[in-house]
Amino acid sequence: MLDVASIRKDFPIYNKGNSPLIYLDSASTTQKPQSVIDTITSYYDSYTANIHRALYTIGEKATDEYEKVREKVKLFLNVPDTHSIIFTRGTTESINLVSHAWGTKFLDEKNNVIVSEMEHHSNLVPWQMVTEQTGASLKFIPLADDGTLNLKELDSYFSPNTKLMSLVHQSNVFGTVNPIKSLIAKAKSVGAITMIDGAQAVPHSKVDITQLNCDFYAFSGHKMTGPTGVGVLIGRTDLLEEMDPFMGGGEMIDVVTMEKSTWNQVPWKFEAGTPNIAQVIGLGAAIDYLISVGLEKIHSHEKELLDYGLDVLAQNKDIILFGHPENRGAVIPFIVENVHPHDLAKFLDTDGICIRAGHHCAQPIMNRLGVTATARASFYLYNSKEDIDRLAESIEKTARIFA
Ligand SMILES: Cc1ncc(COP(=O)(O)O)c(C=O)c1O
Repeated sequence: MLDVASIRKDFPIYNKGNSPLIYLDSASTTQKPQSVIDTITSYYDSYTANIHRALYTIGEKATDEYEKVREKVKLFLNVPDTHSIIFTRGTTESINLVSHAWGTKFLDEKNNVIVSEMEHHSNLVPWQMVTEQTGASLKFIPLADDGTLNLKELDSYFSPNTKLMSLVHQSNVFGTVNPIKSLIAKAKSVGAITMIDGAQAVPHSKVDITQLNCDFYAFSGHKMTGPTGVGVLIGRTDLLEEMDPFMGGGEMIDVVTMEKSTWNQVPWKFEAGTPNIAQVIGLGAAIDYLISVGLEKIHSHEKELLDYGLDVLAQNKDIILFGHPENRGAVIPFIVENVHPHDLAKFLDTDGICIRAGHHCAQPIMNRLGVTATARASFYLYNSKEDIDRLAESIEKTARIFA
């Protein structure tokens, strides 16, 4: 396992001298290391300038630091080409970019789009909107009882009319890691475009975009120790070139007359206006940080925490655990008999424990489970087995109060 005491020295929130923080909500957003905070601060206090337009030293530095992050993302995820890397505000914006800029242009009433019953709203609602607008239909790969995708009737979902498949790589509710490589190959066999929501995968495991061979891949900086307000869309450059811009404005243009405009090259064609410069540079620092600790080490650390957490929580007869996928990230959804998840989260908070409670932006999953909400504990590199012991004790205490 990782040396958590030493990892926590990197995260100022753990070194405030207040009562101990037991943060078990990293699937929602992660804590930030000092190196990320310092990198953002140094942009603001040493070289604040706009990018791609300032002809002076600090402007050139800002542009260089921003563009360097494209190279970092390329190496981190083995992306074939920096031109396929677009900075967005997050996974949600990345998926909306594709659903608008690709979907509205290429979908019509003869086509269908495949998603699954396991999606975060970010990878469902944009497809509902664009299929409604274009007349295309939406098909769903169903969820099985164990929190995996039910792939038994897979062939029946795909046809030559399937224009796009958009699936989550790792579920934010169950932690399920989907067999996306084979699903991407399946979609490609009928000529469909493939989009993968990697919001929960990129922070926790080694993702190789070239090997996956998908057409679009999205993730968010804030779930991987980076700042909020920055994410990435990776897209096949030939598709990005065929697509119309998502937003119009500064920087995304080539020539503008009063009547019409032509577009900048990709990726800048999709980065209209002044981007989140500090956040993009901060994302670069987050990538450096994760590389310095080691994605494989983080992954094994989380696996131990997951196994330990499942064991410990299963010992409490008042706890109902949901799903048991074999290939899974460090996320545990559960409820405690007679305690609403919101009450549980509030009571745990009095012991300094942060968990998520609610529908996890996945109401169709809640409907499928027959509940309106669950509690969820999720782990990252700064969590320890002691955190899980404290969680178990606090749950027991809360259950006794409600009994
Ligand atoms: C699987 C998944 N997809 C998409 C998102 C949306 O990410 P963001 O809010 O950073 O755009 C989340 C956030 O929780 C997620 O877990």
